[in-house]
Amino acid sequence: MLKATETENMGHVRRTPLFPLVAKGLKYASGERALIDGLSLEIGETTRTVILGPNGAGKSLLLRLLHGLLEPDAGSITWGGEAMSGEVQARQALVFQRPTLLRRSALANLTFVLSHLPAAERTTRAHELLAAAHLEHIAATPARLLSGGEQQRLSLARALAREPDVLFLDEPSASIDPAATALIEKMIANAADDGTKIVLVTHDLGQARRLADEVVFLHQGRVTEVTPAPEFFSRPRTDPARSFVAGRLVL
Ligand SMILES: Nc1ncnc2c1ncn2[C@@H]1O[C@H](COP(=O)(O)OP(=O)(O)OP(=O)(O)O)[C@@H](O)[C@H]1O
Ligand SMILES: [Mg+2]
Repeated sequence: MLKATETENMGHVRRTPLFPLVAKGLKYASGERALIDGLSLEIGETTRTVILGPNGAGKSLLLRLLHGLLEPDAGSITWGGEAMSGEVQARQALVFQRPTLLRRSALANLTFVLSHLPAAERTTRAHELLAAAHLEHIAATPARLLSGGEQQRLSLARALAREPDVLFLDEPSASIDPAATALIEKMIANAADDGTKIVLVTHDLGQARRLADEVVFLHQGRVTEVTPAPEFFSRPRTDPARSFVAGRLVL
């Protein structure tokens, strides 16, 4: 299926480019504590970017800052040279570490974000998305009664329903069994193949190896390296990254 942007491009409605995504000198503090501490980063359009780092490194905060849900205390974020705007944010979706779903059925969580489509098409598309997430059997179940893993798959399906140009994912398979993890990874890989930029936070080194083109390593609120994935896993450049890849506690 063509993404909305491509359809519009064929109609010669040009959208502004979103890349490179550039963060410069980002700071975000809570009281005296610097949580994001002078972070700089540049991300291109075509790579699948995986953000790795120990608990508390600032990965979730960084996604929220990049997506414009939090304002940095200092520094700047630009998308294709422009500051974040409502239009740029609407072209992105973020799947949170803890799913946030509507208190409605699984199906209704999808039809809700498909409100731009005519009613019949909306329902058909919602069922297609449920099927792709292997959730057809629980279409009518209230989302809050779904298991943790089912909720994560529904959150991803809902994000994909919006056909984002940029998909941020925060630990999308944290409470998911191996078969469902494979399914989630396939959904993510398919979205990437369709031209969606993937920015994924994970703790799962296997998942990072399977999905990453490049790795951004975060430690204590800063980026310590941005490295092509094969090189990151064979020769991480910094001590914290070496410890992380070796499975040692990173302090
Ligand atoms: N709103 C907030 N106010 C104060 N401290 C916060 C806030 N949000 C996060 N923190 C702290 O900032 C640090 C970074 O948090 P963040 O959630 O980004 O970590 P993370 O890298 O995603 O960790 P994890 O791997 O455990 O998900 C943590 O020490 C956390 O306790
Ligand atoms: Mg986190």
